[in-house]
Amino acid sequence: VKRCIAGAGAQGRVVLETWRAQHPHDEFFFLDDASGKIGTDILGAKVLGGFSLLAGLNGEVIFAVGINPLRLRLASEWGSKGVRFGRAVHPSAVISPTARIGDGSVVFAMAVVNTEAVVGNHVIVNTAVVVEHDAVIEDGVALCPGVRTGGGVFVGRGAFVATGVTLGVKARVGAGAIVGAGAVVTREVPARTLAYGVPARVVGQVDEAFDWKRVL
Ligand SMILES: CC(C)(COP(=O)(O)OP(=O)(O)OC[C@H]1O[C@@H](n2cnc3c(N)ncnc32)[C@H](O)[C@@H]1OP(=O)(O)O)[C@@H](O)C(=O)NCCC(=O)NCCS
Repeated sequence: VKRCIAGAGAQGRVVLETWRAQHPHDEFFFLDDASGKIGTDILGAKVLGGFSLLAGLNGEVIFAVGINPLRLRLASEWGSKGVRFGRAVHPSAVISPTARIGDGSVVFAMAVVNTEAVVGNHVIVNTAVVVEHDAVIEDGVALCPGVRTGGGVFVGRGAFVATGVTLGVKARVGAGAIVGAGAVVTREVPARTLAYGVPARVVGQVDEAFDWKRVL
């Protein structure tokens, strides 16, 4: 099987090693629109060209793009053109047989996705994240390294939960919200707000002008 990682940055390199650990004998390559990267070799995988090459692709794709709204937009554009999405799960991750993981999603080393949790499409479950039982993690969410959750949490579409955040039992993070590193969410972070601290407090709004360089 040919496996394509769309996005040859840091996220792409971790996706490559994760996916390769799962399928050591398959062929991997990158696509990236940055002309300087095309033709280079990254960790033994070639950058064959820009995203336009997805049009004729015979294989599986994962979008390794850290900006959640951009990853969702690319996935929707290319999904409607018939691109097939893969799913990269590191062999050291523990996924309950009753959990579901959607298309285009990645689960990095040492993560746990527990009983009847539902993880949507194009979600990043980063290193050592714990998604506890009955969680609902919607499409395009990023759970950064070391995020841990109690049972039954809800994280809405495209939300970004930064490194080391704790979500208490049944805590809710609204769509498009950003929760800053180390925060503890006891009840709810409203949609499209920026919140951090212990306990997490809303400190701002997240709109289209949000500068993703602040978190990535
Ligand atoms: C959400 C986040 C981006 C906010 O940072 P920011 O926009 O740079 O915030 P500012 O620099 O404007 O900080 C304003 C104040 O809040 C404080 N602050 C910022 N983030 C904080 C946090 N997560 N928890 C507690 N206080 C925080 C700052 O120390 C500063 O305090 P001061 O005014 O007393 O100096 C940042 O907290 C964060 O989470 N970064 C990490 C993202 C991440 O995990 N990326 C990993 C990708 S895999």
